[in-house]
Amino acid sequence: MRIIDYQHALKFITEKEIAAMEGETLSAKSKLVNRTGPGSDFTGWVDYPLAGEENIKKITAAARRIRENSEVLLVIGIGGSYLGAKAGLELLNPYFGKQGGPEILFAGHTLSSSYTRELIDYLQGKNFSVNVISKSGTTTEPAIAFRIFKKLLEEKYGEEARERIYVTTTIGKGALYGIAVENGYEMFGISEDIGGRYSVLTPVGLLPFAVAGIDVGAILEGAASAREDALTKPYLENDALLYAALRNLFYRRGKTVELLASYEPKLRYFGEWYKQLFGESEGKDGKGLFPASVLYTTDLHSLGQYVQDGERILFETVINFEKPEKDMVLIREEEDFDGLNYLAGKSLDYVNRQALKGTVLAHVDGDVPNLLLNFPEISARQFGRMVYFFMFACGVSGYLLGVNPFNQEGVEAYKRNMFTLLGKP
Ligand code: PA5
Repeated sequence: MRIIDYQHALKFITEKEIAAMEGETLSAKSKLVNRTGPGSDFTGWVDYPLAGEENIKKITAAARRIRENSEVLLVIGIGGSYLGAKAGLELLNPYFGKQGGPEILFAGHTLSSSYTRELIDYLQGKNFSVNVISKSGTTTEPAIAFRIFKKLLEEKYGEEARERIYVTTTIGKGALYGIAVENGYEMFGISEDIGGRYSVLTPVGLLPFAVAGIDVGAILEGAASAREDALTKPYLENDALLYAALRNLFYRRGKTVELLASYEPKLRYFGEWYKQLFGESEGKDGKGLFPASVLYTTDLHSLGQYVQDGERILFETVINFEKPEKDMVLIREEEDFDGLNYLAGKSLDYVNRQALKGTVLAHVDGDVPNLLLNFPEISARQFGRMVYFFMFACGVSGYLLGVNPFNQEGVEAYKRNMFTLLGKP
């Protein structure tokens, strides 16, 4: 089944123009897979879904221990060392109540003192473990959080604390690696050739997923199938390549903002992960689509007005799941007090789908091109497929734009000022 459906883009871009992008897009793909483009030292993720399986045994053993002895797993990390895990957990866990296993909380993605203080209070009286994730092992936010929560663990458990700390970092590099070796913490390596925002399929995401009881093997299988499609299918049948080409065509037409939309609230953090992936990969050299995300129908009652009638700089990419996880039928009331009896017998998911269709048509009428990305259902396998699809499209898209999709020098600017203000020696 095809992922991309671009019929609602054809009012803006012709099939001929899409076909004419073949040469450029295949050359961008070749830079990525043959490692000849800028930043090629950071393309290890392209083949990782195959290699990743080696880690599964170690990950599942650690996850079993954490599930046995902890009510909470505290995951410490920021950016690529945070958003992928958060996105997967939000998508694959139930909306309400606890997933099986320990509650998974996050720290080190914010410097908020109130958040940190409340988290310390929340952990009082609970058994917990820490998974600190930092590829460089030197990032300030997670380093501060680790200092705080390591102390909390040591005060609570004494010597046993070291058995409750799991470190995910680059082996042989950075302060975190040194601390882990010195204290004998269990370690998971992040390959040097996989950048933060492309790392969710490594132990960065897989350990928290396994602790939550998510089938990490299925995630990697889904990613491997998306990899196979991305690497082997010809241009016009290759969804990831077409997505990259269409984004680039829209950008050339002055559509400088991509809105990633979904009708399933579980995708909120997938949208955050996507924003980092594309924002950090493409926003450089004065270029790049601005990635934004919305959840419909909620945001039709906030941003809908702008999308319909504001500046015509937007195009929309809608993630659609063909099958809902759950559904319900709307009932008939004896007295039609709210005028909704015309919906009786229809399912709520059907209503949501008509909202999607109606919105796509309205936005296309309002000069907002629409792309639909179809996935069969919400599952671990499809999450793996989605992640790989977007990462591959992002790498190709960056090369089409003429930037290095794998560096992020712009992130250093705020750090320099902050360190000066803090008097860092
Ligand atoms: O994509 C990236 O490389 C960044 O967003 C990093 O993930 C983020 O800055 C965190 O870095 P680290 O994992 O080194 O702590």
